[in-house]
Amino acid sequence: MADISTEFDSAAASLGQAVFSQPVSSSDSSKVTLRPIASKTGTLIQAEWFQSNKAFHKNMSVENAVSYIRDELSGKYRQVLIVSGGTAVQYILKRDGTYKRTGTSAAVSRPGAPASHDRAKNRVLSEGDAIPALVDLGIFTQDYKIIKSKYDKFKQINRFVELVDDEFKNLPSGSEFTILDFGCGKSYLTFILYWYFAVKRGVNVSIIGYDLKEDVVANCKAVAARYGYDRLSFHVADVTKDALYDRKIDMVVTLHACDIATDYALDYAIKKGAKHIFSVPCCQHEVNLSIHSGGDLDILLRHGIIKERVSALLTDSIRASLLEDAGYSVDMIEFIDFEHSPKNLMIRAKLTHTPSAKNRAAVLSLQQKYGFEQSLIKLTEK
Ligand SMILES: C[S@@+](CC[C@H](N)C(=O)[O-])C[C@H]1O[C@@H](n2cnc3c(N)ncnc32)[C@H](O)[C@@H]1O
Repeated sequence: MADISTEFDSAAASLGQAVFSQPVSSSDSSKVTLRPIASKTGTLIQAEWFQSNKAFHKNMSVENAVSYIRDELSGKYRQVLIVSGGTAVQYILKRDGTYKRTGTSAAVSRPGAPASHDRAKNRVLSEGDAIPALVDLGIFTQDYKIIKSKYDKFKQINRFVELVDDEFKNLPSGSEFTILDFGCGKSYLTFILYWYFAVKRGVNVSIIGYDLKEDVVANCKAVAARYGYDRLSFHVADVTKDALYDRKIDMVVTLHACDIATDYALDYAIKKGAKHIFSVPCCQHEVNLSIHSGGDLDILLRHGIIKERVSALLTDSIRASLLEDAGYSVDMIEFIDFEHSPKNLMIRAKLTHTPSAKNRAAVLSLQQKYGFEQSLIKLTEK
């Protein structure tokens, strides 16, 4: 038997998150999530819930969060999950209004995941920020509230920009900076990057977005023109074969550019000597379609779903290895919680050292054994 506010209080010092779900009354929000966030006055707890398609947030001290749970949430939700200090504890509501602890497990530990203090920092972009382009793109309502169906996309771009901010927060205003976005699509990220560098940071940024789709590119051009974003341009191009910008660039970004479009983006960055790469791949089909059995790891290829995941991880590991050979220091980051997108691995790379061929032999040996195709291997052949 447990008092859930007391349980929360004991877990608060190393809280990951607490999730109250399965409301007793249908008039309550379906889920309330509490997470730590950093503020100027120290760590606060942020409660987040949805009503009428809008996300709501309330920030409070730990002490007030304990009272909030006791007064507003306890007894109203059948299920509670508290993740703290690497442990996830589940509770269910009993008839007498107390909670019973039903299970404890190790919270999934994710290599490369941001530390809790990293997650807790202030967001670069917040609901309520006056970014009119995001209204046109259907992420914000007219009064700059997040549209519920776009919440996952908002989380992704926000996290992406936080990671960019980690790298560029000291870039002086007035600096010249050029970014290429491969497979920009509706360009939520592209517009936010422009806003971040040009509006928020005062950098003389030029951003070029490429996409295959003419209608999408036409819409992005119209939105950029509407807000006078004159150094943000969009072009219809197939990045696997068309001629692209051929002057100096500083950074390449991709967010879910399909399959081998990511390899072409990485190869382009290598060949242009782009100092920074932020790339979130998706749809890594190429290896999955071509890999065959060949050695000790055949067990990983027997079931379709495992083969698909292994192929995706192998693809991104090869990309990281070849980027290292090209002189980049590479971090693989789980850039967003799996619940917001399963395509959640970011390759963050920075040009730091002299190129070598230190990883290539191992990559080629694996390729020979398992017979797969992988575009970046081919593109980076000397
Ligand atoms: C899943 S969407 C992602 C869009 C955007 N980056 C985002 O995250 O919202 C992938 C985009 O990549 C574009 N794309 C795929 N292959 C491409 C290629 N070879 N050249 C240019 N664009 C490509 C598609 O047209 C699509 O708009």
